[in-house]
Amino acid sequence: MKRVLVTGTAGFIGFHLAKLLLTEGFRVHGYDGMTDYYDVTLKQRRHQMLLQTPGFSATEDLLENHDRLVQVADEFQPEIIVHLAAQAGVRYSLEDPRSYINSNVVGTFNVMEVAREHKVEHLLMASTSSVYGANEEMPFTEVEKADTPLTIYAATKKANEAMGHSYAHLWNLPTTMFRFFTVYGSWGRPDLALYKFVDAILDDRPIDIYNHGDMYRDFTYVDDLVRGIRLLIDVPPVRPDSPDDIAEGDSLSPAAPWRVVNIGNGDKVRLMDFIEAIEEAVGKKAIRNYMPMQMGDVPATWANNDLLQELTGYRPQTDFKDGIARFVEWFRDYHGK
Ligand SMILES: NC(=O)c1ccc[n+]([C@@H]2O[C@H](COP(=O)([O-])OP(=O)(O)OC[C@H]3O[C@@H](n4cnc5c(N)ncnc54)[C@H](O)[C@@H]3O)[C@@H](O)[C@H]2O)c1
Repeated sequence: MKRVLVTGTAGFIGFHLAKLLLTEGFRVHGYDGMTDYYDVTLKQRRHQMLLQTPGFSATEDLLENHDRLVQVADEFQPEIIVHLAAQAGVRYSLEDPRSYINSNVVGTFNVMEVAREHKVEHLLMASTSSVYGANEEMPFTEVEKADTPLTIYAATKKANEAMGHSYAHLWNLPTTMFRFFTVYGSWGRPDLALYKFVDAILDDRPIDIYNHGDMYRDFTYVDDLVRGIRLLIDVPPVRPDSPDDIAEGDSLSPAAPWRVVNIGNGDKVRLMDFIEAIEEAVGKKAIRNYMPMQMGDVPATWANNDLLQELTGYRPQTDFKDGIARFVEWFRDYHGK
């Protein structure tokens, strides 16, 4: 089976992806710097679980350490690279923008260099729905312009898309960029709303509800998301002979084996409905603290998933109420609450 280098395996999505790939018999080497953006114990627990699975090995170091990344790739000889490690989080990018430049711009460049050196069959990298920024036309499609990032987080991810395009063009490196939409699920991130809400409700603390609850998100269950990534691994973009060969709705570049693909649930869920589903799953009402809109935030996201379906025959399908129930079950078990 193929050798896949996955960055960010101690992180939420990388952990779930590595688990899925290992189940299918891939050999996976994880690379993660275990940054302290959130509870490092959670990251260690995820890595420990993966390390118990045959076929998994890992290196704990920063992406910025180019020599280490080169050494790891020389030893492991990856055929595929899935680059998920990043300084994530929209709100934190107002507090510490430099960490986004270091991890996401310098770090991603180092990963691309390794992909080029090793002539990997397919480089797949995480971008975000945040690149749609101030766009208002919904659902968001990959072929529409996304030139209005509202935070440094979104700007670094948009930069990654452009950097990826240049390497795909120059070195004929098949590259897929994913735009993920608000991912949630077991082993999830403590900085994200679902985790914070469940924790606060269980402890009888108030929850902060931004824009007075007038928010919408396309919530994507992590198992569905990693299934989408897995299937896209098998669909490396091919440089078209002519722009006329590009199907309508395909974001394939006319100048490179490069495309960008939304992975979202394809539903626009009202934040208040999401909160009610959490209350239902927890069995307790939230104390609501209504707040104004946060700087850099957007009122709504909603993915058009047609391209993912066209390429893989798959669409995410977990209803948010089922996904929330599964998350709450994990949360209570993990925290013993
Ligand atoms: N979770 C979401 O809702 C969401 C939405 C859109 C995009 N994304 C993107 O998906 C990817 C994975 O996100 P996640 O939710 O799993 O986040 P995460 O923070 O749980 O995982 C990221 C991992 O990358 C590692 N990392 C960060 N900076 C690093 C560096 N400089 N060197 C080495 N390792 C480093 C961290 O230690 C962490 O384990 C990220 O690129 C993120 O921007 C996530």
